[in-house]
Amino acid sequence: MPSLKSTQAYLERHHGGDGKLAAQRTLESHQRNHDEVFQAFWNQHVVLSNDAECHIVDLGCGPGLFLQDLHQRYPQATLTGVECAPYMLDQVPDLPEAINIQVADLNLDLPDLFPTNSIDIAVANRLVHELHQPVSLFRNLQHWLKPGGVFVLVLVDMVRQPLKSYVSHELKGTNLNDPQLTDKTLEDLFIHFLEHNRYHVDDLVDLLTLCEFKILAVEPIRSGRAVQIAVQKSE
Ligand SMILES: C[S@@+](CC[C@H](N)C(=O)[O-])C[C@H]1O[C@@H](n2cnc3c(N)ncnc32)[C@H](O)[C@@H]1O
Repeated sequence: MPSLKSTQAYLERHHGGDGKLAAQRTLESHQRNHDEVFQAFWNQHVVLSNDAECHIVDLGCGPGLFLQDLHQRYPQATLTGVECAPYMLDQVPDLPEAINIQVADLNLDLPDLFPTNSIDIAVANRLVHELHQPVSLFRNLQHWLKPGGVFVLVLVDMVRQPLKSYVSHELKGTNLNDPQLTDKTLEDLFIHFLEHNRYHVDDLVDLLTLCEFKILAVEPIRSGRAVQIAVQKSE
């Protein structure tokens, strides 16, 4: 049975054993992970005027940069980030009153984290592959999201790819015979291959469908190494 503590220990290992560096990398990759492809997908599926009074939740919000982007764009919105890695939380700056952070383990059944039918939009950008299983989160979202209408979950994540494509992307062309590649690097590479390669696009779509979400859009990105999915809670 996972607990906040065991999840934090798992994440620290998954993030390379150096939490500070992982948080720094998350800050540095913010622009790339919320680039124009993501923005276009968001604009297509999140139908909200800029002055909407709504509740948007960023699941696995890291140091909170996307929450700050959302605050700029939707100044009347209530914004909540959910995060559990202490080194990510350490990098969250002082935030405007409209933004708050909840420390919780999204592997767990959390019926009381948000009131039933209270969230307009939820986003999970590269969270799902870090969960032990995503079903508890999808079930929680069925409680938390408002039904029908524009109430959407936008999910972006890495998906299954052949070992050759994963290795050449991660090693940026380095030959596997290169003596610079230590046993430790190779071990990390193969552990991460399993952890990043957990789901095929169809697995995510099937799980969301089995959890009774209506699929709005499925868009492979990054040459098929990742996917953007928009779903809606049924009426
Ligand atoms: C790859 S990072 C992405 C961060 C951010 N969404 C972004 O796009 O920059 C995934 C984030 O999810 C958080 N996370 C992973 N598992 C979690 C869990 N069980 N509960 C809460 N947060 C979790 C990690 O600590 C990390 O900050």
